[in-house]
Amino acid sequence: MATLVELLHDRATVPTAVVEHLQRLVATWGVLSDLSFSDLLLFVPAAAHPGNFVVVGQVRPTTSQTLYLEDLVGHEVTGPERPMLPRAWSLGTVVEGELRAAARGEPARVVCIPVRFSGEIVAVMTRETPYGVGRRPGELERVYVGVFDRIARMVAAGAFPFPLEEQLSSEPARVGDGVMVLDASGRVEYASPNAVNAMHRLGVYRGVLGSSLEELGLERSPVSLAYRDLSPASEELELGEVAVFIRCIPLLDQGRLTGSLVLVRDVTDIRRRDRLLLSKDVAIREVHHRVKNNLQTISSLLRLQARRLPQGEARHALDEAERRVRSIAVVHEILSRDTADEFDFNDILPSLVRMAEDLSSTARPVRVTWSGDAGLMGAQVATPLAVALNELLQNAVEHAFTACPALADAQVHVSLTRRRDELVVEVRDNGAGLPPGFSVDSTTSLGLSIVRGLVSSQLAGKIEMLSNGSGTLARLAVPVTRPERDDIARI
Ligand SMILES: Nc1ncnc2c1ncn2[C@@H]1O[C@H](COP(=O)(O)OP(=O)(O)O)[C@@H](O)[C@H]1O
Ligand SMILES: [Mg+2]
Repeated sequence: MATLVELLHDRATVPTAVVEHLQRLVATWGVLSDLSFSDLLLFVPAAAHPGNFVVVGQVRPTTSQTLYLEDLVGHEVTGPERPMLPRAWSLGTVVEGELRAAARGEPARVVCIPVRFSGEIVAVMTRETPYGVGRRPGELERVYVGVFDRIARMVAAGAFPFPLEEQLSSEPARVGDGVMVLDASGRVEYASPNAVNAMHRLGVYRGVLGSSLEELGLERSPVSLAYRDLSPASEELELGEVAVFIRCIPLLDQGRLTGSLVLVRDVTDIRRRDRLLLSKDVAIREVHHRVKNNLQTISSLLRLQARRLPQGEARHALDEAERRVRSIAVVHEILSRDTADEFDFNDILPSLVRMAEDLSSTARPVRVTWSGDAGLMGAQVATPLAVALNELLQNAVEHAFTACPALADAQVHVSLTRRRDELVVEVRDNGAGLPPGFSVDSTTSLGLSIVRGLVSSQLAGKIEMLSNGSGTLARLAVPVTRPERDDIARI
């Protein structure tokens, strides 16, 4: 389904500021639909067919039956089909009437409200109500429709939606959550049963009618702010475990404050869920911490065992195994510090570099430096990458300078280049170069076989190694995509 922005772009000619105005309208109009017990449609003139209008938005009431089961967004209507539309558009005033065959041949009552922005009519919002259905009008219905009419007049006057409507917290509130209507002095004129319940949850048990929220003991209510700035304000009030989200929308008539609509939503359950998620993040960090500790224990065991062996191949192999385990531990160490799903690979570089430098002998020290930014990535990329980079660094330190013991300035440099979805890691040394006939694709030695395996299977990337007379260059290119939340759970 096309979005509002796409439709306005493809099917109409509307400047950006107008698009934003209509987006703000549509972001809050669920409440308007509920208050009017009606479907709302938003029309703009069709660019390709003068005289026609295209539906760019549709919302159904949660307080009543809908007139339209079908999705009307993207539909085009002609002027003669809906004569009220061009009238509201050209007169710039609210036009009411009947639509003979609105849905399934049933007639409906239609109110066309011109949407004004910066003095111009930019769209027409229609309120479409079936005859016959609907609730027996009681006080609630009268109050709600009354508020709708006040807001509709603001829409026609260009005073609603508000210019800098802050984004609503989680989901936009709907009327079913609880509604209060306040007068121009901030006193409660009407409170819906759900609003009264929410007030009870906040410890307000006495009758709310006739009092201001402050008088009822809700000191941090957003009402005074909304009344001062003549723009919507929100506040989340808490009492123990209970959390209630309150939003105050001022009602204006020709710039004058006449009262306000206050939406009251009990968000206790949502906050409880947030807290659970937060503790899940903490749990994930704790798991990383334990994994790191276990890996460090394994690496210590390998080191102890290596020390008991005489110098030689077996001891060397255990030392290498120890460092491989340690390079994975480094990743978990970083993951255990932060709750973020992604982390910067540059954070683990210092540890890898130190491990490589420690490997060089004091007689022939090798300096390892790095430059560039790897950027953010998930652990599913960082872990194999850390292991692979560790192998390349070890090789440079171990092999590049053995044949040229005279080299005074032995250097290894790691450079990281991140292009959108690809990371290139280069390890360059100024040593003797690769042995004659060497090919990274065919070597069967363990270290580079591990690197090849990780790069091709786990990282879906490429590896190259070449000598150019003044040392060796090893280059890894790996795709880096943002991790999904599910991946995190699997790490
Ligand atoms: N930077 C380098 N400079 C010189 N030779 C290298 C370099 N990197 C790798 N090599 C060569 O590639 C071989 C294979 O490396 P690797 O698979 O890690 O096994 P190992 O390090 O156990 O010998 C090394 O033995 C070495 O001859
Ligand atoms: Mg090696």
